[in-house]
Amino acid sequence: MTSIKRAHNFNAGPAVLPMSVLEKAQAEMFDFQGCGMSVMEMSHRSKEFEGIIQTAEADLRELLGIPTNYKVMFLQGGATLQFAMLPMNLRPAGASADYIVTGSWSKIASKEAGKLGKTNVIFNGESANFTTLPTGPLTVDPQAAYVHFCHNETIHGVEFKSEPVVPAEIPLICDMSSDFLSQPVDVSKYAMIYAGAQKNAGPAGVVVVIMREDLLARVPEKLPVMLDYKVLAESGSLHNTPPCYSIYMVGLVLKWLKELGGLPAIHKINLEKAKLVYDAIDHSGGYYRGHAAPEARSIMNVPFRMPSEELEEAFVKEAKKANLIGLKGHRSVGGLRASIYNALPMESAKALVEFMAEFQRKNG
Ligand SMILES: Cc1ncc(COP(=O)(O)O)c(C=O)c1O
Repeated sequence: MTSIKRAHNFNAGPAVLPMSVLEKAQAEMFDFQGCGMSVMEMSHRSKEFEGIIQTAEADLRELLGIPTNYKVMFLQGGATLQFAMLPMNLRPAGASADYIVTGSWSKIASKEAGKLGKTNVIFNGESANFTTLPTGPLTVDPQAAYVHFCHNETIHGVEFKSEPVVPAEIPLICDMSSDFLSQPVDVSKYAMIYAGAQKNAGPAGVVVVIMREDLLARVPEKLPVMLDYKVLAESGSLHNTPPCYSIYMVGLVLKWLKELGGLPAIHKINLEKAKLVYDAIDHSGGYYRGHAAPEARSIMNVPFRMPSEELEEAFVKEAKKANLIGLKGHRSVGGLRASIYNALPMESAKALVEFMAEFQRKNG
């Protein structure tokens, strides 16, 4: 195993998975725990799969301290489908919902909600090129069905350090796709959290939804079944065939996190990795420039610029030769982006900062 050459993988998602998780999946590939078949080949109604999905839910509940009055669902359609399902299910006809827009993803979420009904944007960071977060209380419509925000903007690299301040009676709903499981979260502050798995929680193909049960009373009659939270919650995510293998992989990642010491332990490691990268930016004399305002910086996604586009292109090329992969920035921000998710080894973060220093020495 150790002879395999793994890339320093800075992809934004799908992203690096822990080596030990991949090894476990490999070991169980042909014969999952003596049942003579892979998880990909077994019935989603089998005892074995029942064990897989129930254990994944139990481990997630333990890691995040999810209160018992919350449902956990493993759904399909990615976080993008949640942008639409959320207003379809939880914004009653005629009501409006408030959106905090801090980057591309919350902007897309608000646009999807806008296609389906009344949507107010109560903070918009676009004029500041999505480098900032709201500070202080927001003006929330007291009648709003909910307030939606994105905890970590994957493209712009801005991440909330605490929940936005909104009136307690208004449900707070969060897209946590790109910093899910990166740090402890007080789930009771949220009415609903959703996260595509493919950054921190597993492979693509499954989105985790954590929802306070009372919200299910809002679900209107006659939604198509696969868009109906009530149907999906009440069937334990098994109304139809779920993304079995992705759920199994999420389960392995959750076990890995538990063995590591849970969310406080991974948070500590994430802070160390982020400090390494931000220090490299801040100590470069302006050669590397972080996109996000320092107080809004993400510990998961670090977009940054260099003195010219030519240098940025050369950086990506040279980095690739040095086995540092996935550093090209999103086309809407340009430049570079290092995604430093849970499973990115510390050695990879160190390799990046060494490469940055060396590149500057040669080209700066
Ligand atoms: C914060 C955030 N929300 C939503 C999405 C969309 O996720 P999906 O591709 O799973 O629909 C992404 C994808 O990168 C994301 O980073």
